[in-house]
Amino acid sequence: MPFHMLASLLWLCCGGIAAYCSAASAAICVRSCGGVEIPYPFGLDPACALPGFKLTCNTTGDGKLYYKGVELLNISLTEGQVRMRMDIATYCYNSTSGGMNSMSWLLNLKGTPFRLSDFGNKFTAIGCRTLAYLIVDGELTTGCTATCKANDLMKLTDSVCIGIGCCQMAIPGALQSYGVTFDSSFNTTEIYNISRCSYAALVEASSFNFSRNYSVSSAFNDHYHGQAPLLVDWAIGNDTCNVVGYICNCSKGFYGNPYLKPEDPDSCQDIDECKEPNKYPCHGKCMNKVGGICATILLALMSLLGIEWIKYKQRMKRQDIMKKRGEYFHLHGGQLLTDMMNIENNISFKLYDRDEIELATKGFDKTSIIGEGGQGIVFKGYNLDQVSNPVAIKKCKGFDENSRTEFTQELLILSQVNHENIVKLLGCCLQFEVPFLVYEFVPNKTLHYLFHSQNDPSIRPLEIRLKVAAESAEAFSYLHSLDHPILHGDVKSTNILLSNNFIAKISDFGCSKIRAADGHNDVVKGTIGYLDPEYLLKFELTDKSDVYSFGVVLLELLTRRTPLSNQKVSLASVFQEAMKEGLFLELIDTEILHEDNMRLISDLARLACQCLAMTSESRPTMSRIAEELRRIEKQVRQHRGVLTSISSLSLSASSSADTSEHFTGETNGYNSLRRVAAMSIEFAR
Ligand SMILES: *[C@@H]1O[C@H](CO)[C@@H](O)[C@H](O)[C@H]1NC(C)=O
Ligand SMILES: *[C@@H]1O[C@H](CO)[C@@H](O)[C@H](O)[C@H]1NC(C)=O
Ligand SMILES: *[C@@H]1O[C@H](CO)[C@@H](O)[C@H](O)[C@H]1NC(C)=O
Ligand SMILES: *[C@@H]1O[C@H](CO)[C@@H](O)[C@H](O)[C@H]1NC(C)=O
Ligand SMILES: *[C@@H]1O[C@H](CO)[C@@H](O)[C@H](O)[C@H]1NC(C)=O
Ligand SMILES: *[C@@H]1O[C@H](CO)[C@@H](O)[C@H](O)[C@H]1NC(C)=O
Ligand SMILES: *[C@@H]1O[C@H](CO)[C@@H](O)[C@H](O)[C@H]1NC(C)=O
Ligand SMILES: *[C@@H]1O[C@H](CO)[C@@H](O)[C@H](O)[C@H]1NC(C)=O
Ligand SMILES: *[C@@H]1O[C@H](CO)[C@@H](O)[C@H](O)[C@H]1NC(C)=O
Ligand SMILES: *[C@@H]1O[C@H](CO)[C@@H](O)[C@H](O)[C@H]1NC(C)=O
Ligand SMILES: *[C@@H]1O[C@H](CO)[C@@H](O)[C@H](O)[C@H]1NC(C)=O
Repeated sequence: MPFHMLASLLWLCCGGIAAYCSAASAAICVRSCGGVEIPYPFGLDPACALPGFKLTCNTTGDGKLYYKGVELLNISLTEGQVRMRMDIATYCYNSTSGGMNSMSWLLNLKGTPFRLSDFGNKFTAIGCRTLAYLIVDGELTTGCTATCKANDLMKLTDSVCIGIGCCQMAIPGALQSYGVTFDSSFNTTEIYNISRCSYAALVEASSFNFSRNYSVSSAFNDHYHGQAPLLVDWAIGNDTCNVVGYICNCSKGFYGNPYLKPEDPDSCQDIDECKEPNKYPCHGKCMNKVGGICATILLALMSLLGIEWIKYKQRMKRQDIMKKRGEYFHLHGGQLLTDMMNIENNISFKLYDRDEIELATKGFDKTSIIGEGGQGIVFKGYNLDQVSNPVAIKKCKGFDENSRTEFTQELLILSQVNHENIVKLLGCCLQFEVPFLVYEFVPNKTLHYLFHSQNDPSIRPLEIRLKVAAESAEAFSYLHSLDHPILHGDVKSTNILLSNNFIAKISDFGCSKIRAADGHNDVVKGTIGYLDPEYLLKFELTDKSDVYSFGVVLLELLTRRTPLSNQKVSLASVFQEAMKEGLFLELIDTEILHEDNMRLISDLARLACQCLAMTSESRPTMSRIAEELRRIEKQVRQHRGVLTSISSLSLSASSSADTSEHFTGETNGYNSLRRVAAMSIEFAR
């Protein structure tokens, strides 16, 4: 029966313009190649395909299906996905030359309807001394470390990929290009007898199952014949759209290709349920009705009363949300939190409603976004609680039910923290898929911004630097000294916010307990350049890991250099090297170096170096650091006389054109994902 329905639109392109799914009728087209079916909108001939969906069949060679030189394994219309095969990058010791041979590459799908599936793929690295980077648009995006010490070889376990011999990472969404490369200071020169090669690739998560012999042989590469499967989403739409476009589906009870015009015999057709009694059991006389037997009412609604249908859908969605809210609330430990709050009766912490959050962020409007940190997106919210003060609303990344108790405990502790130098947690909302946390809004920029994006030296005299450092150290020390200590885990200059009069406020808490969520194996947390090497070895976060990262912040403060140079060399190792040689003064920021403060600068440098000690036992505690910083600060003041009117200094008075307000410093989307991987040089020691 040539009956058709408007297939359901899943995504609308650029908001609002409804598009009609059934597009072209296919001419006489070749519809398979190398055993792979090629449904419309894909095709081998331009007349048989939508623009951007033209494939090639290598009939003269291997007979396989290709898209721009990349092999295609499957095409799924219902999922809107294709499976491609991409090269595995290798980094192998060459015993002839005694050097390392590297095979890296790049996949570029820009200007095509394809995007790498962030849900279906994981960045995977295999090896025993491996640090692989995912590069996007020339930027380091994510890194993955796989190591095995000699006695760790026993610990290699089938199907377990947690950093020993194997590492997996989630990737950012909607990527259209990527490359893979290796950090050269993690190489197999010394262990080639055990493990000659490192491998890394973006791999379809469900196809990967770690095997012990992957890290010590070429078994991984062999298993995939040098090319791993990769899931790629596609959608019809305009390339210029930022939104993904749309995919189509046949209505319930219909089966076929929803992209074809209804006249086409392969387009969505009514399934004759009567002919398949096993699938559609019928007691009595069966009469095939258009659509599904059970869906008749639904269909009548749809074809006769389109508007009613939409209303109905909206009502259903509303009910669904109402139901989900409650479910999420429980899933995220809402009950637990309420119970705990009842016990601890002195809490000013508030549980917000979904509607309140939506209203405050104007429905998560893009213009409300003020930052994107490792833990999630931060929105600026207005008029929460009928109070005109703005707030910062953070959408946590993912949620792990297993850590629910820890999460609620930490929330409760944080809600009771009332420290001048810690961003105040005001409340949360647990009625969304992921928890939302509401914080005090901090109006000025971050320490990172002050150091690395401002040209005016007058705003960062040594006094200010020391004051901010001392206040931050006091805040960390406070958190470490709680009955139930809170470790920050991502200490860096972008997480130190500045309030009026340069009061430091440390941020980016709260989601940390749930950050491992995502459903991914986020093995290493933290930010490249700040990561404690001992943490990388033991995968155990301690208060001394925060101390190490803070040491890097102190170096930034002394040198005004970024923690990782353009050549990806870590500031920590450069500085330590210079300390050994006694040449560190060359690295000190000339803005603060004067003849009369050399001794104080040396004290500071020594303090930073103590924080960066390889073994955590040798590092000082945060409270010791805070004391020392206060001592140095006092001496600087004595040197200079009274601190010259800090309050008259203004960040906004500087020349920079960027005046937007920040909550967490990193706004550059992918940069913020640099949370992983390692600090090469220290590690190699
Ligand atoms: C077709 O296959 C041959 C042999 O496998 C190969 O050399 C050639 O590069 C392929 N052509 C394309 C367009 O992929
Ligand atoms: C996808 O392709 C692979 C290899 O060609 C094949 O084994 C698999 O069955 C296909 N899967 C689907 C869903 O077509
Ligand atoms: C399309 O419909 C099929 C069958 O009802 C279903 O399995 C599939 O998940 C749907 N696809 C999408 C993207 O909703
Ligand atoms: C190893 O190095 C030698 C000499 O540089 C080179 O000729 C050879 O191709 C390399 N081997 C591999 C497998 O790349
Ligand atoms: C291998 O790593 C060692 C130690 O990190 C380094 O000294 C050496 O230069 C590296 N070799 C290559 C070929 O990169
Ligand atoms: C590797 O093995 C060879 C022979 O088995 C041995 O001569 C060589 O010393 C070993 N090299 C290392 C670095 O262990
Ligand atoms: C992975 O392989 C192991 C054995 O090598 C097997 O026991 C396990 O079921 C596999 N897991 C998956 C998800 O295929
Ligand atoms: C690696 O292990 C798998 C099963 O665990 C086995 O099938 C494969 O042959 C092994 N490969 C090598 C090179 O040892
Ligand atoms: C995409 O949109 C741009 C501008 O909106 C338009 O110029 C272009 O023709 C469109 N391309 C397609 C394939 O629809
Ligand atoms: C309760 O809160 C008040 C004011 O916020 C504070 O002074 C008091 O110490 C708190 N009591 C307890 C037991 O925490
Ligand atoms: C911080 O921001 C506030 C409000 O935007 C502004 O009044 C103040 O001058 C700023 N302070 C500094 C030190 O920049």
